[in-house]
Amino acid sequence: MLRGAVLLMSLLGAVSGMHSYDQQNRHARLSESKPYVVKPVGVADATTWTIDASKPLVNVSADLFGIFFEEINHSGFGGLYSQSISNSNFEDGRSIVSPWKPLGSERLTIDSRRPLNGHQPHSLRIQALGQSKGSTIGVTNPGFWGVDVNQPSYSVSFFVRSDSITSLTVSLVNGAKTYATADVDGITREWTKKTLTLKYDPVNDAAASFQFSWQSTGLADESLFLDVVTAFPGEGWKGLPYVRSDLAEMMANIKPAFVRFPGGCYVEGDDLVNRFNWKNSLGPIENRPGHWNLWNYWTEDGLGLYEFLSLIEKLEDPYGNPTRAIWVVNNGISHAQSLTPDQVTPLINDAMDSLEFAMGDPASTEWGRMRADMGHPQPFPISYVAIGNEDCGKPWYEENYKLFYTAINTKYPDIQLISNCEPKSFKEGAKTQVWDFHIYTSPDKLAAGANTFDGSYYRNEGAKIFNSEYAVTTGAGKGNLIAAIAEAAWMTGLERNSDLVTTASYAPLFVNQADYTWSPDAIVFNSQAVYGTPSYWNQVLWSTSFNGLVSGSVQTLAYQLDPTANVTVAVSVGKANSALQKAQAGANLVLIHKLVNLKADAQPIDITINNLPAGATLNPTLDVVTLAGSDPNQENSMADPEAIKTVPSTLTVTGPSFSTTLPPYSATVVRAYATTN
Ligand code: AHR
Repeated sequence: MLRGAVLLMSLLGAVSGMHSYDQQNRHARLSESKPYVVKPVGVADATTWTIDASKPLVNVSADLFGIFFEEINHSGFGGLYSQSISNSNFEDGRSIVSPWKPLGSERLTIDSRRPLNGHQPHSLRIQALGQSKGSTIGVTNPGFWGVDVNQPSYSVSFFVRSDSITSLTVSLVNGAKTYATADVDGITREWTKKTLTLKYDPVNDAAASFQFSWQSTGLADESLFLDVVTAFPGEGWKGLPYVRSDLAEMMANIKPAFVRFPGGCYVEGDDLVNRFNWKNSLGPIENRPGHWNLWNYWTEDGLGLYEFLSLIEKLEDPYGNPTRAIWVVNNGISHAQSLTPDQVTPLINDAMDSLEFAMGDPASTEWGRMRADMGHPQPFPISYVAIGNEDCGKPWYEENYKLFYTAINTKYPDIQLISNCEPKSFKEGAKTQVWDFHIYTSPDKLAAGANTFDGSYYRNEGAKIFNSEYAVTTGAGKGNLIAAIAEAAWMTGLERNSDLVTTASYAPLFVNQADYTWSPDAIVFNSQAVYGTPSYWNQVLWSTSFNGLVSGSVQTLAYQLDPTANVTVAVSVGKANSALQKAQAGANLVLIHKLVNLKADAQPIDITINNLPAGATLNPTLDVVTLAGSDPNQENSMADPEAIKTVPSTLTVTGPSFSTTLPPYSATVVRAYATTN
């Protein structure tokens, strides 16, 4: 084999060692690399806001607000992907047994002498060390920081072999308590797969463990081998048995226009060998070895490309349309390496194959057939493909981007392609349909940056913007009120400029409380419970402000605001042409006001709506939803999960000029309805 080919194979296929990631440095680099135009901020006793309902500024992009799912913080593995056995296939490259524990003095080792298959070279050997005949031998697994017993059942499967043991008991236990138990017979010298269901009356205990045990024969060498052990709770979500339903519901409640997945840096890997290699994420779980995730854990790739697409298929946007998929592909760049253009062809082929897997004809394409064999003959539409993540300026990004662009665009001209570089950053120029803009910063900077996209600075570049990652990350605690309010201010700028910024998502989405690698996040969970940070509630506030406007167009309207006011505002209008909207409000025009007050003082505001359609009258009752609190540092918690949340109310007005008061630290959506007869 040629030396170059050997090098490439080792880059893409070798096993690598330790991994680290300098999150703080990366943050600093990101926040410093974009120009901010700081809006003058003063104090106003009263703010006047005049809206010209006849002058649309912009049609709001139907794809504007979505979500970004990254395998980070055990968001998927140990989270949304509800597999409840950790270190289930013993493949993490470090030969570690933990968190499996012996019941007594059994010896636990990672064995590689008789592998289950070529994908699973390692298994767990449980060896009795001279225990007396009849004593209980075995192991426990605590899942991901405790197994939740507040579930009706677990479906368990595992591969097992033994030269001396023929039966095994599987239980759900916590110390001396046994919640459920099932016996398994027919264990032989050959690897066999066993499946069973543990059923019990749910109890409030999230610190249980799974136990695999047998009665000792008393023989000198008594060993049992386990591999690829899985346990999934309940029924899953919407027919997907591997999805944790409470987390999925939280995600679905955002009504995302799109899901960007599966990363982030997760797509890149510290080394290319540790990128998300979607081809290793297909088929039965015993064929998926998993890979090292640069966010410091092994992921077993149970949440593979097929599972991601199946999950996205179950979501819908605020208009009731299917949520779109934004698939991020590796472009030959990891945190440590960049492939040259003549090395990158295998990864271009990988990207093309992934699109064939998602959308190819089952009868005539190899990867389309694979998708059909996995249970989904219908295509999964992919609306956007992002070529890499945060790789602009890295060696060969520009050259490789062009190769990916040409290959994908030639075969799939309808897919929007997202580059990591803005058009002016390409040294030699390149076609850019959409480019990716990330911002993590302080509340002040994010709020003040709400006018970043006003004017011509970015608009003149001629490409759309995907603000795929934004969040307040300094002064935000683990997700506090002021972070959410500043994000709301930022979002007013996105909406007002959504002819330019067509897609945007908060980041990251999920965190398992036991693995706060990145903070803050929108949705916090442990093995039993979940809550939304104020940022989560802000996301819901925005998406549900459009809710019910099925197929309605949404526009931002011309408005005028006291320029000295420390209030950031945006206003949208949508035609209420859905049956639901008519039933709710009896109206055929809805004015949706977004009002953000970043100050500690309540903010009076006078609103005048001019130029309603001829004959239209404003309904006297306006719907109001407010996210607010008196302490900017207030956070939600497991103990008080809804300390900060959206609260609905109404406002009664007598005509198109009216006043209201914005609470301190608040984001408010006011829906006004106008009716023409
Ligand atoms: O959102 C967390 C990380 O932030 C993403 O992986 C990366 O794109 C960014 O640096």
